[in-house]
Amino acid sequence: MNPTKPIVAPASDKTNAARRESLTITDNRTGRQYEVPVQHDTIRAIDLRQIKVNEDDFGMMTYDPAYTNTASCISRITFIDGDKGILRYRGYPIEELAEKSTYLETAYLILHGELPTNAQLEDWTYHVTHHTFIHESIKKFLDGFHYDAHPMGMIISAVAALSTFYPDAKNIFDEDSRRKQTWRLIGKMPTLAAFTYRHSLGMPYAYPDNELSYPGNFLNMLFRTTELKYRPNPTLERALDVLFILHADHEQNCSTSAMRGVGSSHVDPYSAIAAATAALYGPLHGGANEAVLRMLLEIGSVNRVPDYIKQVKSGEQKLMGFGHCVYKNYDPRAKIVKHIAYEVFDVMGRNPLIDIALECERIALEDDYFVKRKLYPNVDFYTGLIYQSMGFPMTMFPVLFAIPRTSGWIAQWQEMLLDPEQKIARPRQIYLGSDERSYIPMDHRG
Ligand code: SDX
Repeated sequence: MNPTKPIVAPASDKTNAARRESLTITDNRTGRQYEVPVQHDTIRAIDLRQIKVNEDDFGMMTYDPAYTNTASCISRITFIDGDKGILRYRGYPIEELAEKSTYLETAYLILHGELPTNAQLEDWTYHVTHHTFIHESIKKFLDGFHYDAHPMGMIISAVAALSTFYPDAKNIFDEDSRRKQTWRLIGKMPTLAAFTYRHSLGMPYAYPDNELSYPGNFLNMLFRTTELKYRPNPTLERALDVLFILHADHEQNCSTSAMRGVGSSHVDPYSAIAAATAALYGPLHGGANEAVLRMLLEIGSVNRVPDYIKQVKSGEQKLMGFGHCVYKNYDPRAKIVKHIAYEVFDVMGRNPLIDIALECERIALEDDYFVKRKLYPNVDFYTGLIYQSMGFPMTMFPVLFAIPRTSGWIAQWQEMLLDPEQKIARPRQIYLGSDERSYIPMDHRG
């Protein structure tokens, strides 16, 4: 089928058209009909360009602010069914991975497409573990920040700075180079994150301990003080590992779209990850877990929840941690996070803010304002309570999102690079600005 030549299907040929995987579009401005192929329940936007009134027109485009109904790519990494609250990485349900896997194994799955064999997991773990150190010069870079610098601002800058230490990362079509940058990024993000935290406390940096697990080493770099060997609490270590699994990927979210968009210019992966981390920083995205805790602290007590809900329904406030661009059902990750919260509270003590959170959820799940808009708790609603109970300051919450999402960003970036259909991202626009006009000298301006 030649999509550039309009195919005029006779209007009477409806049964035949109904059998064809296509749309027949009638342009009422000209009376012409066009047949556009349908594949995977989508049409290619470029197939609309043939629809014109005059031959020298640019042709039909689609207009989709925030791309809410536009597939930007074909992906085989993560599947979400927003209505049913389903999330799968490479076909494996998030509930099973959270129960049975580890973050490093899940990161391998997301990046390679299959669960690793024992030998593959050992090799993968060895290489990630042996890329946790960062160049000593980065410490000087971090020391330049104020003590109260937001760790997301620090880590965005630091991961971009890593691109200057690894110029070989520019060889983005060299598989060995991509593999090495992957080890480096997944290995070093926890180190950078921990170093930003220690900087904010004015504490000396605690170096990686290669004998510990991925989450255990992160806890070590965060919280080790005078002890020679840090021994992570196994409940907290496992809780963090599961939280990392839950945050590893989430198809074409804002930060992943930034990773793909910036990566499509063929920049190195460190610079692209810096852009993705910056996108994640926003309170509507990965910054929501910090915003949730600030909201719960602002509410202050269970008996003040109804007043806050009134403000939300009047549009004065958002119920942070609620709602989702895709999930119009309970975010499957939120259910698991809620369970982890109680496990952490058993070790660290119950976080009193949980009562306020539960009351917000109870009211929201009953109130028509939220039910009608399909606003359910998302992954960010309970994570902040856990992080606070584990001793993290609120500013570290989005950093705890960026660390595990690094594997998803890299996997999506690599899939984009290797997709022959992909090229530099360059959307179009509808121009409604001024027509051509001449320059006005200063003394003639109104
Ligand atoms: C993440 O995309 C991903 O996959 C992201 C993520 C990932 O893993 O990468 O899942 C992680 O970012 C989770 C989302 C975290 N953000 C928040 O919790 C911030 C609060 N949530 C909202 O800002 C909002 O729900 C969004 C941005 C998350 C989703 O917005 P939508 O789906 O585009 O919804 P919308 O803005 O079109 O709102 C629809 C209606 C509006 O009301 P009306 O104009 O119809 O009257 O719902 C209202 C909105 O005002 N609404 C809310 C609300 N979210 C939407 N009202 C109150 N509180 C909210 N949280």
